[in-house]
Amino acid sequence: REFGKFGPLIGAIDEGTSNVKFLVFAANTSEVLTYHQVSLKRFSPQEGWVEQDALEILSAVLECIEVTIDNLRKLDINPEDVVGIGITNQRETTIVWNSTTGEPLYSAIVWLDVRTSKIVDDLIKTKGAQCTNAVTQTSGLPLSTYFSSVKLKWLLENVTAIKQAVIEGECMAGTVDSWLIWNLTGGSRGGVHATDVTNASRTQLMSLKSLQWDKGLLRFFDVPIEILPKIKSSAEIYGYISTGALLGTPIAGCLGDQQAALVGQNCMNFGQVKCTYGTGCFLLYNTGESIVHSQNGLLTTVAYKLGPNEPPIYALEGSVAIAGDTLQWLQDSLGILNDVSDTEYHAAQVTDDEEGSICFVPAFNGLYSPHWRKDARGVMCGISSKTRRPHVVRAALEAVCQQVRAVGGAMAVDCAPLRRLLADGGMAQNATLMQMQADTLGVAVIRPLMMESTALGAAIVAGRALRVWPASTPSPPADTFLPSITNEEREIRRVRWESALERCLGWATE
Ligand code: G3P
Repeated sequence: REFGKFGPLIGAIDEGTSNVKFLVFAANTSEVLTYHQVSLKRFSPQEGWVEQDALEILSAVLECIEVTIDNLRKLDINPEDVVGIGITNQRETTIVWNSTTGEPLYSAIVWLDVRTSKIVDDLIKTKGAQCTNAVTQTSGLPLSTYFSSVKLKWLLENVTAIKQAVIEGECMAGTVDSWLIWNLTGGSRGGVHATDVTNASRTQLMSLKSLQWDKGLLRFFDVPIEILPKIKSSAEIYGYISTGALLGTPIAGCLGDQQAALVGQNCMNFGQVKCTYGTGCFLLYNTGESIVHSQNGLLTTVAYKLGPNEPPIYALEGSVAIAGDTLQWLQDSLGILNDVSDTEYHAAQVTDDEEGSICFVPAFNGLYSPHWRKDARGVMCGISSKTRRPHVVRAALEAVCQQVRAVGGAMAVDCAPLRRLLADGGMAQNATLMQMQADTLGVAVIRPLMMESTALGAAIVAGRALRVWPASTPSPPADTFLPSITNEEREIRRVRWESALERCLGWATE
């Protein structure tokens, strides 16, 4: 069919922990034509609990689609040129709903939530090391509060409405992608209950080898297979949108947000690494068709599978729980920032080693890779009467960089040293952070000018499934940050950080 001057268009839903966006890309050029963004609320009914409203997530997605499509009309672009959409989402966050009424049966339990700490301890105690090692071997993931497995276990054991829905055969569960796909394709009137391999690989219920729900894992966590979605590849038609401005448009791709950024950054070859600086911060190292098990605290995960008959590609992942969230905390809880976008200005007022500088480990809910210590809590070390706001802000940025460095070090031992790092995500707009990262890592950090890599990845997989996206695209224009400190200075900073890190371990007790 004939298209307008931008050719075929692909939409991307990017449902992150903090914001929902819908962007429209021109498939021929990867250019973003328009987008709309809505921020999401988070609730903490008890310490360590992190919840979101599944209906708010859904209505934010619908609002973003409607406003963006309206923008297209205002730009004189025909919305019918949108030939398909891709979905990318915060991973692990778990939603359970009633398949007849479509009502969520509990709040979405967000990946950061640590209410399952006791479940994790009990499983380790009662099942023994051999069994828990087998879980890691099959799923690629250690036992942790982070993954959907224990969140689902908690929901099935603690929420009466969910127990009832399981008995009545009306219970559906999934990560945010499944919730959105089901609702967008018709909900209780025949919606598709599906997920993709990358999201499924973060539930800790899927075998990395078979790419199917694993009987042993389901038994270990006591999860009935009937409530789980069907696992599909990342690039195929899932179903068709049943309502609104995109009625009849195919959902043709789906990826967890970190995997989507890997695709969006074009890290499609062994050894390529990207880091997305969002609410948390996540490095993925493409290991090709090999499943590499880390000896150094990294996760093994599915990176993508570009079609039902394509091979799965795997990645090693280093997950840092708190990155952009530290700045949000400085703004919302400490009140020392008016806006997180002021960070760059404040951090540039001071240097790393002047009087008043501090070390800050924001282990608010424990530490993820490579430590996996849920007993860690935040510390600030070295505070003196000279310490001022810019020192705290700079230390918050350094915390992100040092954690990324530690993950990069683990990747070097498991695979090979990083030769460069591709950066993206909201926080990567901060040039001071990018320079600190290059200094801390000792390799170049490359930041594309178009930083919506996550949404781009979702658009690419959908565009490939629909055969409208070019097979290869030239590298996009980018800024490069080169290391500017000596190895000796780098080492001094590392040692200082490590000694602050030691102090935050073992703080939380049950
Ligand atoms: O695993 C959690 C991750 O997918 C969340 O990403 O971008 O919301 O920090 P983000």
